[in-house]
Amino acid sequence: MTRTLITSALPYINGIKHLGNLVGSQLPSDVYARFCRARGDEVMFICATDEHGTPAELAAAKAGKPVAEYCAEMHKVQSDLATGFRLSFDHFGRSSSPQNHQLTQHLAGKLAEAGLISEVSEKQVYSNTDGRFLPDRYIEGTCPNCGYDGARGDQCENCTKQLSPTDLIDPRSAISGSTDLEVRETKHLFLRQSKLRDQLDSWIDRQAGWPVLTTSIAKKWLHDGDGLRDRGITRDLDWGIPVKRGDADWPGMEGKVFYVWFDAPIEYIAATAEWAEANELDEAAWQRWWRTDKGADDVRYVQFMGKDNVPFHTLSFPATIMGSGEPWKLVDYVKSFNYLNYDGGQFSTSKGRGVFMDQALDILPSDYWRWWLLSHVPESSDSEFTWESFQRGVNKDLADVLGNFVSRITKFCRSKFGEEVPEGGDYGAAEEAVIAEISTSLAAYETHLQDIEIRKASAELRAIWAAGNEYLQAAAPWVAFKTDPEAAAASVRFALNLIPLYAALSEPFIPDAAATMLEAMNAKDTPWPTDITAALSTLKAGHAFSVPDVMFAKITDDARDEMEARFTGR
Ligand code: 2FM
Ligand code: ZN
Repeated sequence: MTRTLITSALPYINGIKHLGNLVGSQLPSDVYARFCRARGDEVMFICATDEHGTPAELAAAKAGKPVAEYCAEMHKVQSDLATGFRLSFDHFGRSSSPQNHQLTQHLAGKLAEAGLISEVSEKQVYSNTDGRFLPDRYIEGTCPNCGYDGARGDQCENCTKQLSPTDLIDPRSAISGSTDLEVRETKHLFLRQSKLRDQLDSWIDRQAGWPVLTTSIAKKWLHDGDGLRDRGITRDLDWGIPVKRGDADWPGMEGKVFYVWFDAPIEYIAATAEWAEANELDEAAWQRWWRTDKGADDVRYVQFMGKDNVPFHTLSFPATIMGSGEPWKLVDYVKSFNYLNYDGGQFSTSKGRGVFMDQALDILPSDYWRWWLLSHVPESSDSEFTWESFQRGVNKDLADVLGNFVSRITKFCRSKFGEEVPEGGDYGAAEEAVIAEISTSLAAYETHLQDIEIRKASAELRAIWAAGNEYLQAAAPWVAFKTDPEAAAASVRFALNLIPLYAALSEPFIPDAAATMLEAMNAKDTPWPTDITAALSTLKAGHAFSVPDVMFAKITDDARDEMEARFTGR
């Protein structure tokens, strides 16, 4: 059996994610996980909250809560939203878990043993008022280049010049506004990634089948960016994974924690260990996914992420894994995404611009969002959410095509033959033509899903739905019924058989509607089809069904305007 390990980039803990975040990793990874399961793979699908770093500390402070409490609460919120969107993770973990502490400290120890960690003394800005070191971007002041007074210690937003904190004129803490700052000496660990350049280079060269977006970013960082500069992997913060070499203390590193981007990807592994513990399984249960010496050599590992995450997943995390000298599983395929924009601008968490996951579910059921987002997933370029496009996608594809098909045929059958698949007549040329058409589309659909070309897959699925509608329109059993009831019965039987087929094929995109269709058709265990002719003869004459409630309500112009207005100027 094929074994597929799938991870979605870990959402930061500090707040509810917007639809751009959702479509940039979690949602497409869910389609792929559902497809792999449907075709019979053994799947391990992992995600978690990314809980460390200054933004988490600041968000907790803003909420007036201790950071551990804030993270526990937000994890629950994000986990419930994931359930609301039907994200079918096998485990939704937490990067602050004991498993991740242990594994991160273990890997740091291995990297040190391999001579890949150096200790570097640095001068860093300390805020006496805040009682802490300030990361560069939490120091503000006047830009020496353009005079803008809101420049940050890493970059001036106004003139884009890269800065260091000591360049700023009149620097102040972005946390408290305090100017009582001083430069202090502090020691940090650096991962000597540059020593792994050749190994990383040849590994990336071997990944011929990766998407262009992924490879182009990876190569750019490898060759002309400074992606392989030795990288600080520790921070002077309270919240995080304490710096240790395995179980042992690390002299001189007391009070420091690992940098959030060091421990976050390790959580992919640790979350699988969390899954094992939650299911009362032993170590072997998760190691067979991650250790090539413990059975993971036949696992195919696919990662999903937004394009800004690519350097961390194609260089830094592999450097950690390779540098450890231990047989951890490396990623086989990195699927990355462009950005989804919101109505002429960008989604923005800090400005609250766009639709956020909780708001979306308050407005409409998750399938509506899933369908629009997945059929507009920013794969080959950025894409844009507009309320008009959303309304069109829902009304045309879901309500007019799929929903209308299901409702029309089940209602017609009920009125003329009762709530049972009718007997009589035989399939003929018209049905053969539909079988041929759907078989062709199915082959393309499967290829696109295998290749993780989600947008193309959605177009093919839409075509499969449309074939049913067109068939019904042409066969017109409501007309045939008057003169040739046998022919009408055969058409109705054929069309009813399309419903469980549609449910199975649609499940990766719209799982709730798929469940509704299967329930109505009394066909819960309908498998992924291997042969369309056989699939469309599954429901025999006499098989009982019921007419489902309206599957998709149309979005009226008024409702659209109202939603648009509600989200304008936020
Ligand atoms: O960019 C982000 O949202 C990060 N929290 C992604 C982390 S992915 C992984 F490495 F943990
Ligand atoms: Zn400037």
